[in-house]
Amino acid sequence: MKSWFRGAGFLAGTAFVLGMASAAHAADAKRGQFGKLDDGTMIETVTLTNDHGMSVTTMTLGASVQTLSVPDRDGKSDDIVLGYDSPAEYLADPQYFGATVGRFANRIDKGRFTLDGKQYQLEINDGPNTLHGGSQGFDKRVWTIDSVKSGPTASVTYRYKSVDGEGGYPGTLNVTATYSLGEDNALHISYRATTNAPTIVNISNHSYWNLGGATANTGSMDDLLTINASAFTPVSDTLIPTGEVRPVDGTPFDFRTPTRIGDRVRDGSSEQIRYGHGIDHNFVIDGEAGTMRRMARVEDPDSGRVLEIWGDGPALQFYSGNFLDGTMLGKGKHIYREGDALVFEPQLYPDAPNHPNFPSARLDPGDTYSNDIIFKFSTADE
Ligand code: BGC
Repeated sequence: MKSWFRGAGFLAGTAFVLGMASAAHAADAKRGQFGKLDDGTMIETVTLTNDHGMSVTTMTLGASVQTLSVPDRDGKSDDIVLGYDSPAEYLADPQYFGATVGRFANRIDKGRFTLDGKQYQLEINDGPNTLHGGSQGFDKRVWTIDSVKSGPTASVTYRYKSVDGEGGYPGTLNVTATYSLGEDNALHISYRATTNAPTIVNISNHSYWNLGGATANTGSMDDLLTINASAFTPVSDTLIPTGEVRPVDGTPFDFRTPTRIGDRVRDGSSEQIRYGHGIDHNFVIDGEAGTMRRMARVEDPDSGRVLEIWGDGPALQFYSGNFLDGTMLGKGKHIYREGDALVFEPQLYPDAPNHPNFPSARLDPGDTYSNDIIFKFSTADE
């Protein structure tokens, strides 16, 4: 059976839509080092820089985004992603700052699923459930650098082999994560995976965006958010989808027109907002899965920075940074507090393997899993 993600040919379409094909300048990819893990492993970096004030540093630990700088409306570039100053802190991190999350992003109910009549038990690492692949998910792995390219579009491809049985998942999975940057201030992330036995896959990026600056003393709750979703998937009190696909009409999850996030995350009349301590939900994106389309847009009124999230997957997890509780010291010893940053994860639905009515997360030998994401930056006038 074919599922939505086994298509091809959208890259050319994306380049056309976002103007990458017409880039006039050269973007640069440069290798560097971030530091060593306790066992002596060197964490390498690749920084992609363009001529329009944007640069992004990615690293082999978790194939993560470590810094990302873009100009504000006055042309001043700032790092706008949360993170740490050393590899050891990333390894201890319970928040998945900037990481590639997998083998299965978000939660699986009690870590259990059945494939071809056989039940699998994954490692439990979030209350009664499995979150983001388990405690040693893709975010905690040291990936290898496959290729680094400068050119009109600069890029780096990371590779990781997840062996059969790792974290409890069947099948050996070969995964790549490619970051590309052209001159249009759009970071393109593309994930691919193949397997040698039937398995489940759901991979996404877990960057925390504070459009005002990662060390700004203002959070993200004044940001104006639009999500192109007419429905969302309600959850239980352990944040597992109930299976229902509910229209957003008349709920605090209706972001179809620009809405101040802070006006929604304190709406305790909604059981769903109470369960998430804010918003931590899967939005079913309008339009056709398999087609690159705009999923969401965020605008920070102070800095004027605008982030558009594009993707070709069926859904978007929007997490309003509800569990940043002031106990984490990030870059430059900055304390991260609730609502400081926003996470947008284009992906399949959480707990998809346990809901036949959700798009399938199954991957078979001979097929290629793919998920393509674009984080595109611009500024808005005052
Ligand atoms: C999840 C949150 C979780 C967070 C961990 C998000 O993707 O939706 O529930 O707490 O990741 O940092």
